[in-house]
Amino acid sequence: MNASAMSPIPSLTAHGVARAFVSGRIRTNILHDLSIDLYAGELTLISGPSGCGKSTLLAVLSGLQRIDAGRVTALGNRIDEMGQRELERFRLLHTGFVFQGFNLFPALSALEQVELPLHYLGLPAKDVRERALRALEEVGMGARSRLRPTELSGGEKQRVAVARAMAKEPELLFADEPTSALDAANGQMVIDMLHRIARTHGTTVLCVSHDPRLLGHADRVLSMEDGRILSDRRNSPLAPSHSVNQQASSP
Ligand SMILES: Nc1ncnc2c1ncn2[C@@H]1O[C@H](COP(=O)(O)OP(=O)(O)OP(=O)(O)O)[C@@H](O)[C@H]1O
Ligand SMILES: [Mg+2]
Repeated sequence: MNASAMSPIPSLTAHGVARAFVSGRIRTNILHDLSIDLYAGELTLISGPSGCGKSTLLAVLSGLQRIDAGRVTALGNRIDEMGQRELERFRLLHTGFVFQGFNLFPALSALEQVELPLHYLGLPAKDVRERALRALEEVGMGARSRLRPTELSGGEKQRVAVARAMAKEPELLFADEPTSALDAANGQMVIDMLHRIARTHGTTVLCVSHDPRLLGHADRVLSMEDGRILSDRRNSPLAPSHSVNQQASSP
């Protein structure tokens, strides 16, 4: 069968999305009629200058922020039409986040950090422990699972944060500048880890970064400027088998 006959279905799409911020009587448009399709099994990197709207785009695609116009469809669901509770549930079940500043709790061990969101999912304690350990092992932190953030390096902290995001086994994984607090070697290690997660778990990984050293580590690079996507470049061909995970199970 040829590739066009098996054209993959995107797992996450934005269509004609607009987003503005209002301050007093001034309204500033941040995203302008923006459309993109993202696919499972790929790491897509969004690059662009400071203030161009990268974090805002990540926030609207993940349902963290509302849009003013357009549509956002995630795993076959119109998340822009969801009520707040439905959206929160969707985000809990299907999305994971990695932040620039790690966002770890100082008092918790690596294992406890990773277990926390799994408790919210209502999993039995034994499964929580097993899944958390598996995720920590996958990022090479199995042996350091009892340590607290103050006892970990920056690269190790971000690995724990990646384990926490992926332990839920989300279909959609978002990362906003996950490497900017790290040196070059640790930054590449984290981006390669996110890439591997996309490949091995079929996760849709969307990562924002303005670090040009990471561009070659993604499957696809979207360049953004002034609230628009200016270019869309692929480093690797889209695999047709990645048209999976449509229609999230309704909670
Ligand atoms: N909550 C907010 N209220 C008002 N303006 C905002 C808000 N959040 C973002 N903005 C504005 O929207 C624009 C885009 O911000 P955004 O954080 O998306 O940029 P960015 O591309 O992620 O930048 P950086 O690379 O510096 O993180 C900026 O001009 C910012 O000041
Ligand atoms: Mg940002």
